Amino acid sequence: MRRLTIWMAAALCAFLAGCASPEKAEKAEKIRIGLSMDSLRVERWKRDRDLFKARVEALGGETLVQSADGSPDKQNSQAENLLAQGVDALVVIPRDGEAAAAIVEAAKKADVPVLAYDRIIRNCDLDMYISFDNERVGYMQAEYLTRVVPEGNYFLLGGSPSDNNAKLLRAGQERALKPFLDKGAIRVVGDQWTDNWDPSEALGHVENALTAQRNMIDAIVASNDGTAGGAVEALRARGLAGKTAVSGQDADLAACQRIAAGLQTMTVYKPLKPLAERAAELAVALAKGEKPATSQTTPNGKIDVPSVLLDPVQVDKSNLYEVVVKDGFHSLEDVYQDVPIEERPTP
Ligand code: GAL
Repeated sequence: MRRLTIWMAAALCAFLAGCASPEKAEKAEKIRIGLSMDSLRVERWKRDRDLFKARVEALGGETLVQSADGSPDKQNSQAENLLAQGVDALVVIPRDGEAAAAIVEAAKKADVPVLAYDRIIRNCDLDMYISFDNERVGYMQAEYLTRVVPEGNYFLLGGSPSDNNAKLLRAGQERALKPFLDKGAIRVVGDQWTDNWDPSEALGHVENALTAQRNMIDAIVASNDGTAGGAVEALRARGLAGKTAVSGQDADLAACQRIAAGLQTMTVYKPLKPLAERAAELAVALAKGEKPATSQTTPNGKIDVPSVLLDPVQVDKSNLYEVVVKDGFHSLEDVYQDVPIEERPTP
């Protein structure tokens, strides 16, 4: 009996010591955020991931990252896996805005809030959405091109059809083009979607369009910088690079270099730091069971999703340095590597 009492006392001490251990206490309290990403193929996403992780860490949490390599099925099972690991909130960059509704349903069952990052998830009870105003991005792309090419033949090079942003971009592009189409100044000679935003598929679309139009395309409304890269390659093969106007989005390094060299007309810069950091703050708040205030909502087919929508910026050769370099997004040396030193902007 006495031995049993001693043993029980020892066990109780060990238990109490365990509870009091600061290390264990911290472990139990640390907020864990699951970040489920479409893929890391497009340059921007690594930056999004790193900025997001750093902010979560600064807030005392940790991030578990999974990248689905462009597969909706893989993304859904990875998200299930993150839920099984007991994350306190899930942040999703959906590969497929419809298919990812299953992720939100599974999270609801586990009582885990979901924040859609950059791309909305449709037809589900999504908790929150953060992005840039994507319709406005599309408007900015086409609006810019109409200023340099107010008349002529346009080709619309869309993004991934399963990415809701691609549709919003197209809507914004069409809104900007409408007055020019109505007065007959501009003709849309073709349009395509580019699965997975794949630059080589984009190259093929533009090659075909150039053949069909006997090279008579004056402007290409490319929906992001990756597809713009494909377009410029197709133009280069026909000696048209720098002659046909091309839009873009993301301020990818290669696109900034093309703008500096006069091969791409513009891009839309979306400062990723405020996006990723605000997302991290929202995710941590949601994980703690708080309801962060938002000023907008976005319909997703089922509900109006509380949203934070940030402002994008048009960038061309004239403000490339001021906007992209000065913001620390890329270095002067990197952006102007193909430009003679005496022609580069001076800091
Ligand atoms: C979009 C995003 C763009 C671009 C593209 C390709 O959803 O808004 O910034 O990166 O995906 O990943």
